[in-house]
Amino acid sequence: MTQVGKARGTTPDALNYLESFTLGAVDTSLAAQNAVVALESLGLGSVYIGGIRNKPAEVAAELALSARQFPLFGLAIGKPDPVRPASVKPRLPQASVLFEEQYAWSETQAQAVRDYDRSLRAFQREQGLPERDWSDQASDRTRGPDSMAGRDVLRDVLAKLSFPLF
Ligand SMILES: Cc1cc2nc3c(=O)[nH]c(=O)nc-3n(C[C@H](O)[C@H](O)[C@H](O)COP(=O)(O)O)c2cc1C
Repeated sequence: MTQVGKARGTTPDALNYLESFTLGAVDTSLAAQNAVVALESLGLGSVYIGGIRNKPAEVAAELALSARQFPLFGLAIGKPDPVRPASVKPRLPQASVLFEEQYAWSETQAQAVRDYDRSLRAFQREQGLPERDWSDQASDRTRGPDSMAGRDVLRDVLAKLSFPLF
């Protein structure tokens, strides 16, 4: 957008705002998810790689990104190995994430999460994976900066990549 604006003689100052960053993140995610669905329809598999945000400055340098460009996530694409078929992990039940008109967390959602912990454990058992509640995993991941695999410094990295995020 910076280049397009330049060609029109405008300064793209709105790109300095958190709103523009959020817009970019939403649009990129929507495009990627559509790509994932299209890839599946072609018999290809894909894996999102959020791990690239563990070292976003290094990834930005590797990709020769310029100012106000940020590597949101990677998407690895390949052919699924028929010798190692993968099962779809159970997802959080709708009752735990769907609210009508207003957000109102209640015992209904809490029970749905407990049910999910149980169904995830059953899946892990079936797959020969170590058993662990989703609630436990998710709580651990959101515990604090030390559980964020280096992503706690994202604001500083974004500032260095010329995102003031006003
Ligand atoms: C936003 C997002 C980021 C992800 N980041 C990674 C990653 O960094 N490394 C990885 O191996 N898998 C990553 N995954 C893939 C998941 O670990 C998982 O393999 C994928 O969601 C599909 O498997 P599932 O059916 O078990 O959910 C990511 C998935 C999503 C949705």
